[in-house]
Amino acid sequence: MQHKLGLIGYPLGHSLSPWIHGEFLKEAGLQGSYEKFEIPPDADFKKAIQQLIDQQIIGFNITVPYKETIIPYLDEIDDKAKKMGAVNTVRIHAGKLTGYNTDGSGYVRSLETAYPDFACNKTDKKLLLLGAGGAARGIYYALAEAGYVQIDIANRTKQSAESIRQLSEKAQTKILSLPEAEVHAHAYDAIIQTTSVGMEPNEDDTPIHLQHLKQGMIASDIVYKPLETRFLREASLLGARLHHGHTMLLYQAQLAFEIWTQTSVGADKLEQELKKILEGAS
Ligand code: ATR
Repeated sequence: MQHKLGLIGYPLGHSLSPWIHGEFLKEAGLQGSYEKFEIPPDADFKKAIQQLIDQQIIGFNITVPYKETIIPYLDEIDDKAKKMGAVNTVRIHAGKLTGYNTDGSGYVRSLETAYPDFACNKTDKKLLLLGAGGAARGIYYALAEAGYVQIDIANRTKQSAESIRQLSEKAQTKILSLPEAEVHAHAYDAIIQTTSVGMEPNEDDTPIHLQHLKQGMIASDIVYKPLETRFLREASLLGARLHHGHTMLLYQAQLAFEIWTQTSVGADKLEQELKKILEGAS
């Protein structure tokens, strides 16, 4: 059987997903391919999805700007994706399209794989999310589902943080401004940077400074271009343990691959290779 996989979005120029899934296919010993399908904004979206079905694709990822657009074209949607209002993975099986969202759970898997000790006594851990956009939404919900309880949110716009808080009744959440987060940084066991601040080409920016952080806490940044953001560089100098953004990319892909092929693949070896690719690119 040919495992035909793909990615839809626009634009798709720089995506690392074809490389990651190519490596997963090799590791799993499966015949197949992972191709990019750019759908320009003025294209007939329904027709583009039908073309994927006609090509006997068994699954595809969805990236910007189509994570919400795809929803009316699905036959089923899993609970997590429904809650997010966004789909990043579709499986086509027995003629049916089912939508999933692996972004948040991929993040949690990447964090707990890097720091297994952090995943013990989850109810005691105090977490702070910086940002309240689409990425923060998925990560907040997945953290709450994974059993973390104290998850505060700091964002420039408090209203967006408020809408994230309403996603889960399992978590206890205070909402802070970014200056408040900076002052109270010492209260947290992990600070998770999800804003676009610090992303190329604004590599000198950081949403907060970390002079008040607790030694040994985890500083996590979902930005992977550059791999070492200013947020992570400052955290490292001040004694934090680091968690890098490329691991989220890798583990959300691993979860998607499992959904499509029902096959488990390791990601440890790829993590180092992906790091090297990104270091070379920046
Ligand atoms: P994504 O889907 O990648 O999360 P997004 O939904 O556009 O992207 O969210 C971007 C996040 O970065 C938001 O939290 C945004 O803050 P606002 O909700 O106040 O807009 C945050 N962000 C972007 N630029 C920022 C800046 N210059 N300073 C502080 N926060 C910023």
